[in-house]
Amino acid sequence: MGNLEGKVALITGAGGGIGRASAIDMAARGAAVMCADINTQAAEGTVALVSEAGGQADSCAVDVSDADEVRRMIEGTAERFGGLNVIFNNAGVGGGYTWDQTIAINLTGVYHGLLIGAPFLAKRGGGAIINTSSIAGLVGLSPSVNAPSLEELEEAEGGPGAYIAAKHGVAGLTKQFALNYARHGVRVNAISPGFIETAMTAEFREDPDMEAYLISQHPIGRLGRPEEIAAVASFLASADASFVNGVVLPVDGGYTAR
Ligand code: NAI
Repeated sequence: MGNLEGKVALITGAGGGIGRASAIDMAARGAAVMCADINTQAAEGTVALVSEAGGQADSCAVDVSDADEVRRMIEGTAERFGGLNVIFNNAGVGGGYTWDQTIAINLTGVYHGLLIGAPFLAKRGGGAIINTSSIAGLVGLSPSVNAPSLEELEEAEGGPGAYIAAKHGVAGLTKQFALNYARHGVRVNAISPGFIETAMTAEFREDPDMEAYLISQHPIGRLGRPEEIAAVASFLASADASFVNGVVLPVDGGYTAR
């Protein structure tokens, strides 16, 4: 019997990468999984993979930056599966977005999941919330092989800065909500992945120099796989982590240990 048997888990950003791997992993451990994503086709693709493996899943559309949509997603999941035990606030975007867009999705999106999700779980017997922060929620990134020029920095429109600010914000929200809900049966933790082989990092990995540079930043000598984040998310979601609360856990091959 899996350690999520009988549980219902809601995962945002479940259409790809870490969210998809987590849906597959949580379903394999016995959870019924709601795969939520702004890209419904991608979320349906994840449902198909879970079903093929013998698991139970369904999909729903959500833009996590919209509080009403997040509320509908949470209520809809509980209705669909007869309860809700786990919320994985994982959806996020990488480069190519403005400051406002990045903050709206990567920070406000997680805030919606906490603000609406934590009391929802607390009123129904408790549960676990996991947020996806990043190594960029713990330290600044030095992502370039060469130091960026002044022109590049001026044109960046706060790009990397917005990502760093949002992910540091997720780390802070995780701790505050963990304290707020500790006596109400809801544990709140975050995962801070290093660079993981998903669509989000595909552009970096296509450039051999950049890929080698990124690998050199991870003491373990390689980038991470989505399954390696999924396994930790499932652990934090399960009763195995019953005394783990308010942590922002690096899963980064040692990136932040230096
Ligand atoms: P991904 O791009 O493979 O998956 C992200 C998913 O989020 C996509 O399916 C996308 O459609 C969905 N999404 C984007 N905006 C959304 C919105 N407004 N509402 C709902 N869904 C939305 O990327 P990956 O790597 O799986 O990223 C998952 C999380 O992990 C993100 O929060 C990301 O910032 C974080 N992360 C990723 C790292 C990496 O190296 N890949 C490292 C550290 C953190």
